[in-house]
Amino acid sequence: MNADIIDIAYLVAAILFIYGLKRLTSPATARGGNQLAAVGMLIAVAATLFLARILTPIEMLGGLVVGGAIGALLARRVEMTGMPELVAAFNGFGGIASALVAGAEVMRYLDPDPASTMALNQLGVGTSVTVALSVLIGVVTFSGSFVAFGKLSGKMSGNPISFPGMRFLTLLLAVGVIVGFVYLALGIDAFPTTVPPTLYALGGIALAALFLGVLLVIPIGGADMPVVVALLNSYSGLAAAATGFVLDNTALIVSGALVGASGLILTMIMCEGMNRSLLNVLLGGFGGDAEGDGAVPTSMEGLTVTATSAEDVAILLTYSEKVIVVPGYGMAVAQAQHQVRELGDLLLEQGIDVKYAVHPVAGRMPGHMNVLLAEANVSYDLLFEMDDINGEFDSTDVVLVVGANDVVNPAARNNPASPIYGMPILNVDHARNVIIFKRSMRPGYSGIENELFFADNTKMLFGDAKDSMTSLVSEVKEATS
Ligand code: TAP
Repeated sequence: MNADIIDIAYLVAAILFIYGLKRLTSPATARGGNQLAAVGMLIAVAATLFLARILTPIEMLGGLVVGGAIGALLARRVEMTGMPELVAAFNGFGGIASALVAGAEVMRYLDPDPASTMALNQLGVGTSVTVALSVLIGVVTFSGSFVAFGKLSGKMSGNPISFPGMRFLTLLLAVGVIVGFVYLALGIDAFPTTVPPTLYALGGIALAALFLGVLLVIPIGGADMPVVVALLNSYSGLAAAATGFVLDNTALIVSGALVGASGLILTMIMCEGMNRSLLNVLLGGFGGDAEGDGAVPTSMEGLTVTATSAEDVAILLTYSEKVIVVPGYGMAVAQAQHQVRELGDLLLEQGIDVKYAVHPVAGRMPGHMNVLLAEANVSYDLLFEMDDINGEFDSTDVVLVVGANDVVNPAARNNPASPIYGMPILNVDHARNVIIFKRSMRPGYSGIENELFFADNTKMLFGDAKDSMTSLVSEVKEATS
């Protein structure tokens, strides 16, 4: 009876996961989708622990209160720009949890009587290989995620790290892992000892995986970490699914497979948005610390930039009919989203058509701009994705580029020698006037110059985006009062 109820609970949880994921595809429904999936997880956890009589209701409540409080505290305290490192830590804990649960399943077969090591063989070849898979992926996810966490949080250098013989060491560990798997797959527990060799093989795989996770992530630059975090998220799902097979637990298999697939899709979307292959990201060496090296590039040959003031931009805006705002990483750094929304509202009140154009990889994490604009209460129907708005720049009077750089760099379209050539961009250079909000001539994430800044229809409003926006808002108020 209980088994039937548990199966039904798992089915309900799986439906909620899938429906919740579907609702994450639009900013308007994402919050609800997240809550639905969380309810699904609560149902799955309760069914497993309570109905299967693993924990008493009091123990379960205790876990819920303590875990819930830590989660709520973290969610409230983390800054939006700190989200990728929090996700990295969660992935790491998810990975190690899967590995430990799968490992614990092996321990259950261990007989305390040293003479009876055969008990391990009851595990069967299939199960011991699946446990090894879970341990391998889970431990790689754990150590890799904590290196990613260190790079993102600035606790270690964001620059790519390598040392002589690193590739050889990685290869050696990979070969060791393969040997361990072959040993388990052949099912030879040939040397009866007090600790069965299957356990030695699993322990060896776990140790190799620990170093492999570190070696795979250290050569990748800090700015590429969001892609790595999405990939490790996918790995944590695969580890959970493998553990689900070990335990024969449908909820773990379904949720693990969903995390694995969605993490991989997200990774591919990010790579496509940057026009780089996953291999190119994983081989590393592109982008160091997320803030760049601070070098000021020389001006482009024979070209100079034109600076402007908040007062002049305000006048330009009040004579416009159509304005598009393009937010980028700098808006996140400056936390200028509230001032951006205030300006947008002021212009809308003047009957000006205002839209927000969101590039898929603007900022440093998926949905970065959507989240910030949503936090500032920008109406969802004013947000447009790249493909939906790119045709509109030709008929736009003013584009306000707030802390965006690479995602509006025409070199991606015009210069085959550019490292970002082929990356899809927002065609802001087609507008009649382009205003760039940034502090200096420093490049963005890709470290390259932007010819847009030197174009005849472009003017630079230098300064912190929040300060510039605040001045612009008061100038527009003055001009329209
Ligand atoms: P970036 O090209 O990185 O440019 C950001 C610009 O913001 C910089 O030029 C910087 O110039 C300016 N800035 C920084 N702080 C500022 C502040 N306080 N006030 C005003 N401006 C400020 O940003 P983007 O256009 O959003 O492009 C994102 C890049 O990140 C792409 O190359 C993308 O491939 C990469 N990336 C994205 C993701 C995801 S998923 N979004 C993941 C990994 C990598 P100053 O220093 O002169 O102010």
